[in-house]
Amino acid sequence: MKVYSPEQLERLISHQPRVRLISAPTPLYPLKNLAAELGLKEILVKRDDLTGLALGGNKSRKLEFILADALRQEADTIITWGSLQSNWCLQTAAAARKCGLKPVLVLFKTYDLQQIDQGNVLLEKLLGAEIQLRETEKKGKSPDQAQAFRLLEEAAQVERRKGHKPYLVAVGGSACGGHLEKPLGALAYVLSLLETYRQTAASGPPDYLVVASGSGGTQAGLLVGARALGLETKIIGICVSDKKEEFLPVVRQIALDLVEFLGLDLTLENSDIILLDDYLGAGYGQVTAEVSSVIRLLLQKEALVLDPVYTSKAMLGLVDLARKKYFRPGDRVLFLHTGGLPALFAFPDRLLLKCA
Ligand SMILES: Cc1ncc(COP(=O)(O)O)c(C=O)c1O
Repeated sequence: MKVYSPEQLERLISHQPRVRLISAPTPLYPLKNLAAELGLKEILVKRDDLTGLALGGNKSRKLEFILADALRQEADTIITWGSLQSNWCLQTAAAARKCGLKPVLVLFKTYDLQQIDQGNVLLEKLLGAEIQLRETEKKGKSPDQAQAFRLLEEAAQVERRKGHKPYLVAVGGSACGGHLEKPLGALAYVLSLLETYRQTAASGPPDYLVVASGSGGTQAGLLVGARALGLETKIIGICVSDKKEEFLPVVRQIALDLVEFLGLDLTLENSDIILLDDYLGAGYGQVTAEVSSVIRLLLQKEALVLDPVYTSKAMLGLVDLARKKYFRPGDRVLFLHTGGLPALFAFPDRLLLKCA
């Protein structure tokens, strides 16, 4: 097992085709009021919600590599899926437009929403994305990859008949499948980890990094980046949709694919993959009183806006772990803000009513 320098790691990634979509490095700074409230030495926030592509988020980092791959394959249309308020779908539509491709989105009604044309969907419609709404087989559960790809393939046939060349990619841009043959989404998060490493050079890397984990690529990329650099930083993924037993193999597979793709001399144990599923609440996309209260906490203490589906759950985890003394008082904890803010405006009734 080898330790790589930042330059070596960067060199391994630099050969990969990439289109520039984001504004980086994203800001990193301490959340002093929250740290005081929780009795921690330092809580840092890394603002990947400010990547800049159509209101930003973690997906735009991934799409720099994924769109480059679609262009390399000479695609003119990108087809993907997500839940109703999928941040991935919005970011994909925005990235597609910037690169001159047509976005086609299959959106699953994973949860109920009284009005659909708001938040991410509103922006997708303004972007001129083609939207196909679909029911899920099980309420609150995303479709499995095979079922979703069947629907994507149907949409692709229609596009091919019109003379288009579609590029199919799975939700989140994490797992390989469709036309995405390499874990390019996760790769982007090795670079994000490198960025954080450089931003924390003076004080040293954090002891913990807390992040929302949905399709697994962000966590897998961060983990591979941290291990390749030989850092002790523990990457804590907070599950937002799946129980950890179902989800751990997904994160593991993406991480292993990434290690292989980069040709890294690195072994990963299951114990390296820290996943906590205690903050799922009522399930994916369910905006509960706890979600509302943590959004209020961060706004009122730090003027930091969290989204109701991902970052609020991750922050619920961070706050609870601090209160349970999972972290030692001297620990430095980094919260990776992965974006998702447009969805906040799709759930006003639940955000306001439950905690009134
Ligand atoms: C705002 C936000 N944060 C975190 C995640 C999780 O990232 P990943 O899918 O790479 O696990 C997502 C995924 O959709 C997201 O939209």
